[in-house]
Amino acid sequence: MTNIRENAIEYARKNASRFEQNLFDLVKIPSVSTNPENKSDMLKAAERIVQQLKSIGFKEAEIFPTAGHPVVVSETMPGNKSVPTLLVYGHYDVQPPDPLELWKTKPFEPTINGDRLYGRGASDMKGQIIACLSAVESVLKQGDIPMNIKVIFEGEEEIGSPHLAAFIKEKKDLLACNYILNADAGMVSTEMPAITYGLRGLAYFEIRVYGPDHDLHSGGFGGAVHNPAQVLCDVLSKMHDEKGRVTLPGFYDKVLPLSKEERLEISRLPISDEDYKKTAGVSELWGEEGYSVVERVGARPTLEINGLLSGFTGAGSKTVLPAQAMAKVSTRLVPDQDPEEVYAQLMEFLKENMPSTVRWEVTKMAGGPACLTNPNLPETKAMGRAMEKVWGVAPVLKREGGSIPVVSDMQEILGVESVLVGFGLPEDSIHSPNESQHLPTFHKGIESVIHFLYNMIEK
Ligand code: BES
Ligand code: MN
Repeated sequence: MTNIRENAIEYARKNASRFEQNLFDLVKIPSVSTNPENKSDMLKAAERIVQQLKSIGFKEAEIFPTAGHPVVVSETMPGNKSVPTLLVYGHYDVQPPDPLELWKTKPFEPTINGDRLYGRGASDMKGQIIACLSAVESVLKQGDIPMNIKVIFEGEEEIGSPHLAAFIKEKKDLLACNYILNADAGMVSTEMPAITYGLRGLAYFEIRVYGPDHDLHSGGFGGAVHNPAQVLCDVLSKMHDEKGRVTLPGFYDKVLPLSKEERLEISRLPISDEDYKKTAGVSELWGEEGYSVVERVGARPTLEINGLLSGFTGAGSKTVLPAQAMAKVSTRLVPDQDPEEVYAQLMEFLKENMPSTVRWEVTKMAGGPACLTNPNLPETKAMGRAMEKVWGVAPVLKREGGSIPVVSDMQEILGVESVLVGFGLPEDSIHSPNESQHLPTFHKGIESVIHFLYNMIEK
């Protein structure tokens, strides 16, 4: 076995540049799930992945249409129930590249500069999909292993996976597995691999405020008509108190407090305020009083304004009292908060705080609950040993502030746990201009998944 393992690593090293080329080809496809104009690119990305799966030795790779974007499912030993099954999850959709003018290279024309491959989705998470597939290829080239490897690649993660739970329910048998590898979380630094055991949930809203039935002259009407932009700012500014806490009624009622032991563990993580300031590009941090930055992001709920729109925002000046104002507001949730209850809390808050001078409405967007996974499963330990082998240090255990809706769907519907890893870094600028994947970490990621696969069958 040891020899086969070494051969697989050797194979991955020899094919490193082809693996990078596969990543290039996938990043070139602008699979922006939220943008209706990219609908055909979604199918293109799915087809590209199917083509790759087939070339690696997957059987019957299939693209399933859904009410939204298609899902790719495939396996190496169709129907074989006599061996354990690993399910590899990934999302081939990406966030919009906006604001385009801040990109130094084109978002969908992947470019290598130094150690990094730049392009939207390079790190989140096309790089991670290709890393997993490259590892599987390297292993399968050495001969069959006593494990069925299934894959599921969805195209709607970045919009909250609205159709995935129904799909998993419908395809329960097809997706049946013992364990899930999900490489959509990340590492702490190039030298510090991580296993994530907690993710926050999300409840996302669009709030619209309507004032006069058309834009008004701000001289002729300012001071006599309540300005929707002002109303919206007033209301948004009340959503946090002076201690940085969220003021929606009942928001903290179901929040599971951090245990002493967990706080101690978290405080041991080698992540400093200085690191956070540096990667964020700020001179000072902010947040809920009484919690460290790692706790604030990983284990406490928050509320963010994601976008604001109202009135005149072009060059120069225009004296106008806008007819409308809009804000995109999201909350990140922790166990045991419920996204539906948070929606009700927001509505109660707005009923209480919106003045009668305007009309307003709320649209519910992406959402899903937070989740915790069990870090003590033998399969998770197999990943820990794999990472230690490659990086020379054991991975740290952490809770992440981001969300991956599929993890709790898989727990609930299939009753299966995921190991959350990833070969992205905090400085990859995911969801931001100039996203990139650190290539040396990508290649180490491939090697760690190769070790993980062999650790799984040797355990
Ligand atoms: N890969 C991220 C989630 C993530 C980010 C995990 C950082 C760990 C560290 C994922 O693709 C993502 O961005 N998810 C969205 C989901 C949402 C739209 C429901 C998110 O968190 O905003
Ligand atoms: Mn993302």
